[in-house]
Amino acid sequence: MGRQVLVTGGTGYIGSHTVVELQAVGFDVVIIDDLSNSSAEVVDQIEKISGIRPAFEEFNLLDSEKLEAFFKKYTGIEAIIHFAAFKAVGESVEKPLLYYRNNLVSLMNILDCMSEYKVANLVFSSSCTVYGQPDQLPVTENTPKKDAESPYGNTKAISEEVLRDVVKVTPDLKVIALRYFNPIGAHPSALIGELPRGVPNNLVPFITQTAAGIRQQLSIFGDDYDTVDGSCVRDYINVVDLAKAHVIAINRLINNTNSDRFEFFNIGTGTGASVIEVVQTFEESTGVKLNYKIVARRPGDVEKIYADTTIANSVLGWKAETSLYDTLLSAWNWEKRIRGIN
Ligand code: WQD
Repeated sequence: MGRQVLVTGGTGYIGSHTVVELQAVGFDVVIIDDLSNSSAEVVDQIEKISGIRPAFEEFNLLDSEKLEAFFKKYTGIEAIIHFAAFKAVGESVEKPLLYYRNNLVSLMNILDCMSEYKVANLVFSSSCTVYGQPDQLPVTENTPKKDAESPYGNTKAISEEVLRDVVKVTPDLKVIALRYFNPIGAHPSALIGELPRGVPNNLVPFITQTAAGIRQQLSIFGDDYDTVDGSCVRDYINVVDLAKAHVIAINRLINNTNSDRFEFFNIGTGTGASVIEVVQTFEESTGVKLNYKIVARRPGDVEKIYADTTIANSVLGWKAETSLYDTLLSAWNWEKRIRGIN
């Protein structure tokens, strides 16, 4: 078995795709997940894809005793990818304490154990929400961070500050924060994908559930923005391409090729797409006509944001490869499989 990596939140959407890509290049993956937003069946699906069943421990990272016991059991952990966090923007507005406690204390518990058990390498799941509504586009890593639009986004911004400050006083600790734009799509096998609980907050799962007949109609939140067609613009990144960025980041840390001990990278395609363009591309790629209507703007929405990927391309050596067309088709294939649609 290869070098051992802990993936927290490894049965989740981005986590599970990252586990598959880590296993594909020989890493020995261990998952911690509390299954608050995923199911244990994902471990079976990962095994079906890779032929390797990752070790899986079910508990919440707020339980520091269980986390201590974990590191006493798994003594070979060389690096950690930390996905585990609550991530529903709207819910975070209603329940800020739940989000600040879960997302921040989990990270701090991980950092405590890394110090105690001498784990030096951490890849952190961050988000473009740290930029708020940028004044200039595309967004570079030097674009000033702004007040996040939600407590969820704020937990990502605060987590980065915690990491920056802890790195300063922990000589052996190396951290890479990956600032995701909008992750979408599913593994080509359609065995893993995005499975939001309840009514989807995010655009693409709402589209695929509408196409599957689970939702009656997609509401497009506003077409009066200053964009190509009035609907909001985002940088939609294929989840497998995003997973591969984590493998590159882990290798960068393990091989000590990082240039600073706290690095951060924008992980996007570099191309913006409007909501209406996403809908049109979905219809083209799947042949499914989508029932939608234009409604009022959603409070807190950023008008447009997309990444400048120069640094990720040149320094990290990573580039998005999958088209929006193919990514939306992968999302539809996943939806059809889980709903038993031919
Ligand atoms: C995208 C666009 C909506 C649903 C959030 C988080 C971000 C990341 C991704 C975790 C917007 C429009 C949506 C719908 C719509 N999450 N939309 N009808 O808000 O850009 O980002 O999810 O890391 O951190 O902030 O993603 O998919 O919710 O919305 O018109 O039913 O689709 O207005 O313009 P968002 P989203």
